[in-house]
Amino acid sequence: MTLPLVDRFARVHRDLRVSLTDRCSLRCTYCMPEQGNEWLARQSILTVDEILEIATVAAAAGITTFRLTGGEPLLRTDIVEIVRRLAALESPAGPVEIAMTTNGIRLPEVLPDLVDAGLRRLNISLDTLDRERFRALTRRDRLDDVLAGVRAAQESGLRPLKINAVAMRGVNDDELADLVAFAVAHDAQMRFIEQMPLDAGHTWDRSTMVTREEILEALGRRWHLEPVPGRGGAPAERWRLDGGEHTVGVIASVTAPFCGACDRMRLTADGQLRNCLFSIDEYDLLPVMRADVAPADRASDIDRVLRNCIAGKKAGHAIDDPGFLQPARGMNAIGG
Ligand code: 5AD
Ligand code: SF4
Repeated sequence: MTLPLVDRFARVHRDLRVSLTDRCSLRCTYCMPEQGNEWLARQSILTVDEILEIATVAAAAGITTFRLTGGEPLLRTDIVEIVRRLAALESPAGPVEIAMTTNGIRLPEVLPDLVDAGLRRLNISLDTLDRERFRALTRRDRLDDVLAGVRAAQESGLRPLKINAVAMRGVNDDELADLVAFAVAHDAQMRFIEQMPLDAGHTWDRSTMVTREEILEALGRRWHLEPVPGRGGAPAERWRLDGGEHTVGVIASVTAPFCGACDRMRLTADGQLRNCLFSIDEYDLLPVMRADVAPADRASDIDRVLRNCIAGKKAGHAIDDPGFLQPARGMNAIGG
C-alpha cells in the first residue's frame, strides 16, 4: 500500500493510458504523416512483462483504470494476454478496470477473446460514414472493416459503448447528426472531440477548428438536447437526445479545457511516462525496466519515476498561450 499519485494542484491520478504500439492500420491525416513516419525502434517497445511490472506499481499507487491505446492497440499480437494479465491487478480501491480505444478494424476477430480476458469498456474512433471521405481522411479504404467492428462491439454487450469522432471543418462537419443517429442505431454513445494541435503536419489552426458551440448548434437542429448532470472529472459533457435514453458527448479540449479535473497520465509504447498529452517532458522508464536489478528494487524505481512525473505536472495544456509548443511526438506515438 503506497500513497496515491497526487500532484501540486491536489489532483489524484487514477487513470493510466497505455500506448501499446505506434503502428496503425490507418493513416489519419490529423495524426500521422502519409509516409516517412519515424517509427519507434522495435527493441524499445515494452514487452508484456514490462507493461505488467509498471502497471502493478501503478495499481498499488491508486491507478484504477488502464486504457489501452496506440497507434492501434489491436495490432499487438499479444493483446489478449495483455488484457488478461492487467485485468487481474488489484488497486487499494479494488479490482482495476480495463478499457480500450481502437479504430475497430480487428474487433470482429478478437473481441470475444478480449471480453473473456476481462476487457470492460470500448471506444471506437470513427470520423465519417462516407466511404470516399473515410479513404481521404485515413488514406486507407477500410470503412467496411470499421463498420464490422462497430457491429461486433454492439453484439458484445460491452456498455457504455462509445464512438469518437474528431469534428473537422469541410471534412465531416455536415454529418455530425448522421454520426449520432448511426451511434444510436448501434446502441452506442457518439462523442465529438474538438481537434487539438497534435498533427504531424502542424496544420492545426484554432480559427478553423469546429467548436463545441458549433457542434451543439448542428445537433440542436435535429434533437432537443438536455444536459446530463454529474459530469465529475470526465472529459465529455453529455446531453440527452429528445429526453430519451441515448446521449451525445462533446469533448471540448480546446474551448473548455477540463485540465482542472484531470486524473490521467500516459505511458508510451517505448516506456516514456507523460503527465499530459501536451507535455514536453517525458520520464523515461526504459532504463529502469532494462536494468539488471532485483524485482523489488525495480518496483521502487518505477514508483519513483511515477511520482517524479506527477510532481512535474503543469496546471493545464495552455493551447491558447502564445508560447504554446506542440509536442514533438505525433498522436500515434503518444496514445489517444
Ligand atoms: N485532436 C483530437 N483528437 C484526436 N485524436 C487523434 N488525434 C487527435 C487530434 N489532433 C483522437 C482520435 C481517437 C483518439 C485516439 O484520439 O480520433 O478518437
Ligand atoms: Fe491510427 Fe488512431 Fe492515428 Fe487514425 S488517429 S492513424 S486510427 S492511431
